[in-house]
Amino acid sequence: MCGIVGYTGSRQALPLVLEGLRRLEYRGYDSAGIAVLDGAGGLKIAKKAGVLANLDGHLGSGSLALAGRAGIGHTRWATHGGPTDRNAHPHTGGSGKVAVVHNGIIENFAALRADLESAGTRMRSDTDTEVVAHLLAAAYRDGPTAGDLPACMAAVCRKLEGAFTLVAAHADVPSVLVAARRNSPLVVGVGEGEMFVASDVSAFIAHTRDAIELGQDQLVVITPDSAEITSFAAAEPDFKRFRVDWDVAAAEKGGFSTFMEKEIFEQPVAVERTLLGHFDGSGVVLDEQRLGVRELRTVDKVYVVACGTAYHSGLVAKYAIEHWTRLPVEVELASEFRYRDPVLGRDTLVVAISQSGETADTLEAVRYARRQRARVLAVCNTNGSQIPRESDAVLYTRAGPEVGVAATKTFLAQVTANYLVGLALAQARGTKSRGEVAWEYAALSRMPEAVAATLTVMGPVRDLARELAHSPAVLFLGRHVGYPVALEGALKLKELAYMHAEGFAAGELKHGPIALIENGLPVVVTMPSPKSRPILHSKMLSNIREIQARGARTIVVAEEFDDTVAPFADYLIELPRVPALFQPLVAAIPMQIIAAEIARSRGYDIDKPRNLAKSVTVE
Ligand code: G6P
Repeated sequence: MCGIVGYTGSRQALPLVLEGLRRLEYRGYDSAGIAVLDGAGGLKIAKKAGVLANLDGHLGSGSLALAGRAGIGHTRWATHGGPTDRNAHPHTGGSGKVAVVHNGIIENFAALRADLESAGTRMRSDTDTEVVAHLLAAAYRDGPTAGDLPACMAAVCRKLEGAFTLVAAHADVPSVLVAARRNSPLVVGVGEGEMFVASDVSAFIAHTRDAIELGQDQLVVITPDSAEITSFAAAEPDFKRFRVDWDVAAAEKGGFSTFMEKEIFEQPVAVERTLLGHFDGSGVVLDEQRLGVRELRTVDKVYVVACGTAYHSGLVAKYAIEHWTRLPVEVELASEFRYRDPVLGRDTLVVAISQSGETADTLEAVRYARRQRARVLAVCNTNGSQIPRESDAVLYTRAGPEVGVAATKTFLAQVTANYLVGLALAQARGTKSRGEVAWEYAALSRMPEAVAATLTVMGPVRDLARELAHSPAVLFLGRHVGYPVALEGALKLKELAYMHAEGFAAGELKHGPIALIENGLPVVVTMPSPKSRPILHSKMLSNIREIQARGARTIVVAEEFDDTVAPFADYLIELPRVPALFQPLVAAIPMQIIAAEIARSRGYDIDKPRNLAKSVTVE
């Protein structure tokens, strides 16, 4: 949450910083702001509440006033202080010569603020960030390292608790930016005679693909020709150079009207790329596997921890991993995990699933698990992010950048990666023979085709969704792997269309939720396969009859050629036939389309749903 960007080089900073902010807007859109160093001892600031377009409008023809070759920018997801102009970043300290942008939460800000106020500092905002600007200005003016911006920044960072990525600019050093990080992401983009810092590489990918990922408690000083990394804590500098393996086209809309729509259509490729290279002829191989076969063999319990959509992918994993490995699997919301004393030990495998690799709840769950000596395997979409860095092993979902705030292609990629984890465990433990693992992997390799085929039949689903746009609520039902699909369908609808939606295990309906059914209420039901899950299928048919008898409008998602279901479906959505465990990879698609289309009909911005941020770096 919160996107930050900085530039120093030979070009005008304003358009480059604004372009970076546009690509980072998925991180938060409560306000946007920019500060430019004019090179002549001046620091100019413009900021505006609301989406980045508001700042653009505010700058209008006045953008000439923000000329300069170094600048910093910020797009905000509000934590401390409402989403107003005055709380928008950058924040300034002292006489307005220093400007700071911040992502994260300074947990001890109240005490720092009280100290500053009692020393006579007048606060201009309600944010935690402003204290950093004042501390930095004071240290630069008359602290023990006065006049040395990097040393002052390091000294200030040592006083801070919590999570932060900070970028600071000072009017006295017009081509220098100083950035620092703890528990929030920061990458440097190394260009030709120019340097960038940003929350993620998409901010500068149009200009350079050479990047440096900063480690924990690191500080970087950038000038047009150099990036110098040091540590502000006791640790040795620990950074990683890498080359971004996707290009700017992947971060653009590519002809679609929204990122989400584009990302929905990228799902066959996301699944395919996630599988790529993970079978070497004799078995499944994972990515950075710092857990050997011997360690996987001794695993006696699996915990899956994740949030939001990633959590739903973990629920799917439970069915596959238990089935293939006979290991008990518990799936836990990361935000609950470490607060309830879970039973973990050396032989517990914790699978931490996170698209961003920076979700604070998941990161803290990983840290907790490691302190309890459990082994942690991260399933992550963001190369080099914090969760994989702190885990024993990582399996990357190679879905490419996802900009739409509501996860789509990364859900399918996570589900796919989780199957790989299940197969790797089954193989190591010998609960599946090499032949069986090869068979499952081959079936999985055919899934991109099934996902693509599903996308081709979504036209009528869009028409249906438009009809549902005025319903007061929608319910989702599923059994077995269809249950997490129901939960994900409901989450998508809540996130995007701001509609009341609930997902239920269909068998549980009769224990309470059936009271919600009333005339005309749309209920989306994911049917198990009649061939491979005949018992569940017939139970589900009974559930449909029960709700239809009470007036529900039944929208049934079923395998093609499932003739038994048609009489009970007010609306039938047919999916390609796939192995039962892999059904979520196709069944999730109509859920995404229904949510996106209802949201669009209601006039909402489906890439930037209200109150949400793509990655949430606070607990
Ligand atoms: C946020 C996003 C969700 C996402 C969740 C977990 O709440 O809005 O779409 O599923 O975080 O994110 P992660 O990056 O850990 O997968």
